[in-house]
Amino acid sequence: MLNFELYNPTNLIFGKGQIEKIATLIPAEAKILIAYGGGSIFKNGIYDQVKAALPDRNIVEFGGIEPNPHYETLMKAVTVIKEQNIDFILAVGGGSVIDGVKFISAAVHFEGNPMDILQKRLLIKDLSKVVPFGTVLTIPATGSEMNSGSVVTIEATQEKLAFGGSALFPKFSICDPTVIVSLPKRQLQNGVVDAYTHVLEQYLTYPHEGFLQDRISESILQTLIEIGPKVVEDPTNYALASNFMWSCTMALNGLIQKGVPSDWATHMIGHELTALYGIDHARTLAIIGPNLYKVMFETKKGKLAQYGKRIFNLTGTEDEIAQEAINKTVAFFHTMGMQTQLSEYTKEFDTTADFIANRFEERGWKGLGEKQNITPEKVREIVTASY
Ligand code: NZQ
Ligand code: ZN
Repeated sequence: MLNFELYNPTNLIFGKGQIEKIATLIPAEAKILIAYGGGSIFKNGIYDQVKAALPDRNIVEFGGIEPNPHYETLMKAVTVIKEQNIDFILAVGGGSVIDGVKFISAAVHFEGNPMDILQKRLLIKDLSKVVPFGTVLTIPATGSEMNSGSVVTIEATQEKLAFGGSALFPKFSICDPTVIVSLPKRQLQNGVVDAYTHVLEQYLTYPHEGFLQDRISESILQTLIEIGPKVVEDPTNYALASNFMWSCTMALNGLIQKGVPSDWATHMIGHELTALYGIDHARTLAIIGPNLYKVMFETKKGKLAQYGKRIFNLTGTEDEIAQEAINKTVAFFHTMGMQTQLSEYTKEFDTTADFIANRFEERGWKGLGEKQNITPEKVREIVTASY
């Protein structure tokens, strides 16, 4: 097993009716910015619950953080924070609002051009230079509620870029599984597939000595396969909703990544498809993931075979099991309402592979993946296979 440090200071508060605890979690004298998205929180009662939990507090609101949050929008919130002397941010939303708040938190006291945080992928480690924030999660998917990563889109350059750092863990996150009842089916499906792919990014690498990490990963995958198709049909079922929400958090709170190699190339390529075509994050992963496993088959087949045996009970030679495991993954994504080829979303994809490969080349991303062998040339092959 590789050496590791596990640091996760987020106070996770999980369960029904927990939103009312917010008042005890935010310093009494804090001037609070409540940040939210396009307004779903007004329709499903989450806004009312948050406001009821914070009587007599000094609150300013900032709405309109879009899915795949835009740098341009977030900078408006930075201005509000400076003008109004805000000292705590409460993100009420999904991965987009939480990621947006992480960027805002880092940008307020940043000396220099905040765009550098994204384009130079700066590590934000100094707690004295960020604005503290907490979250009320409204959609299980990204794990952003318990990790220190964020993904922000620069509208002007059509770039979707990841950054993060140890200073960007939420102080607390309230995860009430009942919030999922108002989610459209498409978003429930997205959440299952995003979390599933987060596990695969950290699990489908090469055989290693992180036996426990593998077993934890496999149990998250099995849980998602078991509950995913059901929870999208019945989000009011609390057993399903709570296991769905906890699986998503566990898939990307850092635990299963400790001491083992990880990949993340599916995400890096997928982010480009969102930036170029506006395809939902999870849906880009369903397009790219299986094709990446095919193109990188020789690198990944040992782990693909383990996955095939343990998750799908497959038998045969290592190659046969590994191949069939990819087919089973595609079938699961179809069950979850995903389309798995780019041509199902856009007819203008002829130059996409070249565009993405060239962009990675320009950014110096010459070797992605657990073995740094996903070169721009391989990226071109993966995207072409995804047409
Ligand atoms: O904006 P509102 O009106 O709130 O509507 C949202 C949005 O349209 C809606 N929604 C959220 N909760 C709802 C609800 N509608 C009804 N009832 C509720 N309870 O759902 C839509 C999608 O929300 P969004 O926050 O975009 O979804 P998600 O949580 O999937 O976040 C996706 C973003 O997270 C990034 C993605 O790239 C994408 O930008 N990721 C962040 C990661 C991280 N920080 O660790 C890792 C992920 O791999 C991912 O890259
Ligand atoms: Zn993801």
